[in-house]
Amino acid sequence: MAFPVTRLRRLRRNPILRGMIAETTLSVDDLIMPLFVCPGTKVKNPINSMPGNYQLSVDLLVEECAVILATGVKSVLLFGIPEHKDEHGHVACEHNGIVQQAIHAIKARFGNELLIVADVCNCEYTTHGHCGTIVDGDVDNDLTLETLAAQSLSLAQAGADVIAPSDMMDGRVKKIREILDNNGFAQTPIMAYSAKYASGFYGPFREAAESTPKFGDRRSYQMNPANSDEAMREIALDIEEGADMVMVKPALSYLDIIRRCKDTFNMPIVAYSVSGEFSMIKAAAANGWIDEERIMMEVALSIKRAGADIIITYYAKEIAKVLSTPR
Ligand code: PBG
Ligand code: ZN
Repeated sequence: MAFPVTRLRRLRRNPILRGMIAETTLSVDDLIMPLFVCPGTKVKNPINSMPGNYQLSVDLLVEECAVILATGVKSVLLFGIPEHKDEHGHVACEHNGIVQQAIHAIKARFGNELLIVADVCNCEYTTHGHCGTIVDGDVDNDLTLETLAAQSLSLAQAGADVIAPSDMMDGRVKKIREILDNNGFAQTPIMAYSAKYASGFYGPFREAAESTPKFGDRRSYQMNPANSDEAMREIALDIEEGADMVMVKPALSYLDIIRRCKDTFNMPIVAYSVSGEFSMIKAAAANGWIDEERIMMEVALSIKRAGADIIITYYAKEIAKVLSTPR
């Protein structure tokens, strides 16, 4: 018998066969596009480190949602840049707050055609840029639970379809579940940023959201990139407290965490391919060093292969366009 008998290359020669035996597929149904909403009208401030992304006023945000929907992407994740900030982030709970206004406007135009995921955190709304209330130079966990719960309720009342806490306080999922349930929002799901690492990959986002901490860093509440067992504990706790979906963030440097999460829990898993992951590809592509479209698709596929069900990505529209182009 000729050697080798088993030739794995036999199934790689024909593109149709290659497609048939593909183990992982990307779908537009899996994608969520993050957006930044700011005060004013006709405002479209480019975010330097994230080419193609903008701080948009509500009117233009609604237009952008139409463009997103036209690509086939059916969900957005909203971040707010408020008019003014305060010590505790109370401004995030105003009935007429910036994200609340955005939700009203999007729902008025698109109804349930577009799923709105509302990020819940204080860092965009506090004068000091930390994710919660500061006591003795550090974020106080239990005081912060109060503002997070209030913000969650306010966003749900405005019409958010999904509440997504990104703060990393202990016990917040339980607190948020309680306040939602006690106020008629028992059907509103929680997408918990469960394993969120203290990462350098958030750099461009902080420019976009104007949420850089004025002192210190977020290492006392976000996870140490060295840890994997701890991520499983974080995720298990969030599930116990009532999370409907759990998230690993960032994605690309944490594919092992995504896989472990998939193998450990029978839960919908969200991966957030964060701003720095996007900007790295953009920068290399702008220099002509890599093929942007190819790398964008390869990265997204790798995140799905690792075990993610849902991907939050600044490339959502572009990925959708590639997926809908016959090839
Ligand atoms: C705020 C928040 C951050 C991101 C999402 N929500 C930044 C941070 O924790 O500093 C990062 C998103 C990105 O980099 O794309 N809690
Ligand atoms: Zn925050």
